[in-house]
Amino acid sequence: MAKIIDGREISRKTREDIKERTLEFIRRYGRAPGLAVVIVGDDPASQIYVRNKSKACEEVGFHSEVIRLSADIPEYELLSVIAKLKTDRSIDGILVQLPLPRGLDPKVIIDAIPPEKDVDAFHVSNVGKIMLGEKCFYPCTPAGIMKMLEYEGISVDGKECVVVGRSNIVGKPMAMLLLHANGTVTVCHSHTVNLKEITSRADILVAAVGKSKFITDDMVKEGAVVIDVGMNRDENGKLTGDVDFEAVEKKASAITPVPGGVGPMTITMLLENTLFAAGNLIQKR
Ligand code: GUN
Repeated sequence: MAKIIDGREISRKTREDIKERTLEFIRRYGRAPGLAVVIVGDDPASQIYVRNKSKACEEVGFHSEVIRLSADIPEYELLSVIAKLKTDRSIDGILVQLPLPRGLDPKVIIDAIPPEKDVDAFHVSNVGKIMLGEKCFYPCTPAGIMKMLEYEGISVDGKECVVVGRSNIVGKPMAMLLLHANGTVTVCHSHTVNLKEITSRADILVAAVGKSKFITDDMVKEGAVVIDVGMNRDENGKLTGDVDFEAVEKKASAITPVPGGVGPMTITMLLENTLFAAGNLIQKR
């Protein structure tokens, strides 16, 4: 039976630490780190994510603002909201919740966020820095996964790492972070031939596909570490991962559950990034 990697527990401990560092920050600089979350439209899943982000900020003592905008806002108005946040000294991190409604180009909007406040690490300049291995923000989900591996004492050095999924938010940056940690990394996607053959080689397998129970036990090596990024709803509306947990758990040495695995870590890393941004901005002023 695999060890269940408890994302809630790792997240709780990390947030306690962030809370302490936040108190220290406030003592030194006389203000709290600040995060602005911009949500456009009324996508129900996004509403929940945004509420959770703002609750997490409160929990660790950050200042947070949620800016709710109508789905039909013109691009120039959204850009002017971002421009105001750019110069707002109480705001260290700016996050525009994705997906954006049709008619708004996420690339234009994300690239309007100043890189030093881009706590999602989606700006082209931060993406470039990740590729080069320069110190910067790391996207929250891959960063949370690296933190979980570190917490569990799972070394990536020299390991066969297979990432299934090549999104800009998870798959691609995940591959980079594993590579920087000296893993031998393969990225698989919908055009991959012999997927099972490749996933079966993995010492560390990261599933970020977006398909319920896509990774079955015959695709997993005995003793592998399996990280499930999936957040899918099955036919009964139940939250499921990309991994067939019941079957894979019997083969893996460690596995993240859904819910309670990677999910809680993502918001925790957003808090880390905001505190990091606040520290950098204070030094520059
Ligand atoms: N939508 C789903 N995940 C994310 C995320 O990590 N950041 C933002 N901005 N939007 C998202």
